[in-house]
Amino acid sequence: MSTPFGLSDAAGLREALDAGATLPADWYSDPAILRLENERIFARSWQYAGGAHLVAEPGDYFASFAGHVPVLCVRDREGTLRAFVNVCRHRGHLVAEGAGNRKSLQCPYHAWTYDLDGTLRTAPRSEREPGFDADGFSLFPAAVDTWGPLVFVNPDPGAGPLAEALGPLPGLLAESGLDLERLHFRERTEWEIASNWKIAIENYLECYHCPVAHPGFSKVIDVDPDAYELRSEGLVSSQFGSLRAGAAGNGANGDIARAQYHLLWPNFTLNIDPGPGNMGVDVTRPLGPERSVGITDWFYYEDVPEETVREMMEFATQVGREDATLVESVQRGLASGMVPHGRLLTSSEHLIQHFQRLVHEALTG
Ligand code: FES
Ligand SMILES: [Fe+2]
Repeated sequence: MSTPFGLSDAAGLREALDAGATLPADWYSDPAILRLENERIFARSWQYAGGAHLVAEPGDYFASFAGHVPVLCVRDREGTLRAFVNVCRHRGHLVAEGAGNRKSLQCPYHAWTYDLDGTLRTAPRSEREPGFDADGFSLFPAAVDTWGPLVFVNPDPGAGPLAEALGPLPGLLAESGLDLERLHFRERTEWEIASNWKIAIENYLECYHCPVAHPGFSKVIDVDPDAYELRSEGLVSSQFGSLRAGAAGNGANGDIARAQYHLLWPNFTLNIDPGPGNMGVDVTRPLGPERSVGITDWFYYEDVPEETVREMMEFATQVGREDATLVESVQRGLASGMVPHGRLLTSSEHLIQHFQRLVHEALTG
């Protein structure tokens, strides 16, 4: 069954989205759509790469991904934070993996060696090659910037500033009472999910499913539609939830009174729960049309006891497990092609509508 709207009728699809229809079901399994998303979304958006603690000192580096693009963040000898496309200019091996500290960046395939500023310093046997000019083979630069303890990368070196993309986010976070400067990295969790990346993000963007699917969460956070607030501005979509009256737990007497859950377009989420200074950040990136991979980095104030950290992580992880089941089920449903598109309840799901308009704009604009 084919969808009545699609790439070939951008205006018709936009009208359908405005009326509450969802994106066509085949946009969640079609490899051609993912190729377009790679080119028009992931190759030109600011994306979370890793914690700033990994590149604190000259020579520090870490490898990461911005969507499908391997990236490398480096603190050079002069102390400047740089990012590169982590692809060797020789034959394409990834130049570095993991994280550490180095004086130069040597590709493990044939030992082309780059300076920390990305210039090619040596290529074995290149002196035997007439006309070989190392100057033409620097690593391709990417845009990089930090916000508090977080490093963001944009594969497009001509990208606008990160602060512009963050928009209202720093202000909203300040209102929560969270002090970014006091946060310390605690731990990383990595996960894989059998779904298109957009299904995972869309699931994140509504709490309509919370009373049904997250009983534990809903006992603590007031998910009533009149209490739970949804807001979008620019590239940021935000949800605010208060503790239920009398709810026990970490939130009762912490620094943070109200939960904040934010999406920064396209695939970065930032989550703070009621309680002592805490922040979990996730990035979800496509591994294929029907497979996604993600990381969660957990940050806490230094004085938050380990036991509290475990409890808070378990609270969030339980929600994540429940979400994974939902999201993988939606993937199976949409991939059947039998229901060409869904219908949003825009009072509770308008953040999804906003997200889908951004996808539509990126792919058809
Ligand atoms: S691919 Fe990197 S040195 Fe050959
Ligand atoms: Fe959920």
